[in-house]
Amino acid sequence: MSRPLPAVFDQALASAVRAPSPHNTQPWRFVVEHEVIEIWLDRDRVLDIADPHGREARLACGAAAFNLVICLRANGLAAIVRMLPDPAEPDLVAVIRLDGNQKGTAAERKLAEAVFRRHTNRRPMLDKEVPSAARTALKSAALQEGGQVEYLNVSGRYSTVASLVRQAETLQSDDPAFRAEAAFWTHREPDSPDGVPRIASGPPPYGPGVVTLRASHENENLPPREYEQEPLLGVVLTRDRGPHAEVRAGMAMQRVLLTATVEGLATSFLSQPFETPRTREALGRIFAGLGQPHTLLRIGYGSPTRLTARRPIEDVLTHRAGRDVPAS
Ligand SMILES: Cc1cc2nc3c(=O)[nH]c(=O)nc-3n(C[C@H](O)[C@H](O)[C@H](O)COP(=O)(O)O)c2cc1C
Repeated sequence: MSRPLPAVFDQALASAVRAPSPHNTQPWRFVVEHEVIEIWLDRDRVLDIADPHGREARLACGAAAFNLVICLRANGLAAIVRMLPDPAEPDLVAVIRLDGNQKGTAAERKLAEAVFRRHTNRRPMLDKEVPSAARTALKSAALQEGGQVEYLNVSGRYSTVASLVRQAETLQSDDPAFRAEAAFWTHREPDSPDGVPRIASGPPPYGPGVVTLRASHENENLPPREYEQEPLLGVVLTRDRGPHAEVRAGMAMQRVLLTATVEGLATSFLSQPFETPRTREALGRIFAGLGQPHTLLRIGYGSPTRLTARRPIEDVLTHRAGRDVPAS
């Protein structure tokens, strides 16, 4: 096979880094060697307090892998994704190898375009129901990547999970280490190449809601506003657990988020209960019959907000001629 046009790889990497990541830490590095792109977890960018095991960072790397692959497919290139970790290289999360030409579908092209529109929307959403066709589209997006989306309103788990979100938020707000870590990564200037800029935060809530967004992501410069009372919540699950499942879940999560963008939906995350051991274990018990829960998404209709910046590709990319391990 002839070498891919460098422009396609540039575009694929530009897509990869648009993936969401906890506090916009961008915990990834890419190594390109001929027709192979490797995605490595960047341990220096894993949140010590919120994510000591790198679980959320692996979700982010899985999302970056999905963006990369969907961009290649939209450009008529087939790609084989080999997901690791390999026990010998636990930080090598995925290897993507070009596999000839294959005409991209219209749906793949729409998802690839949505990569550059998708963003986390922490503002109040409209009290407008998400139609069942869109809910079904998100469910099938997760299934296509070997994951699953379970809506909490249909499974009778809504109030229990919402209460775990509130509990975890309280535990984190009371924990100085947690607060310091969140403060370091949030309230950044609009053009900050990483972290969450203030402009991407939502207004403080006016009165208590059933669901609590992160206090650390509030923009106190905005007047308080009422949030929707009972947003649609969907949990992303996989049948299995462990690092490999976390990368897989990240791919499924990203196909869900991009499908939501194509459907005109806004999304944000409620990760607090995954980040404190007690609430994480409780979540595991609640979904025990279905699989391993990885992330909780708030889904609805909202006005678009600004995209956040990313570090330049040169900062996260290594070209390799031989088989050396990339420099950190
Ligand atoms: C695994 C994971 C967990 C996240 N958890 C939260 C969260 O609890 N609250 C929140 O507001 N955003 C959360 N985010 C969103 C990130 O802050 C966001 O992706 C990042 O700031 C980049 O912005 P963007 O998604 O608008 O591109 C999470 C993202 C990932 C991948």
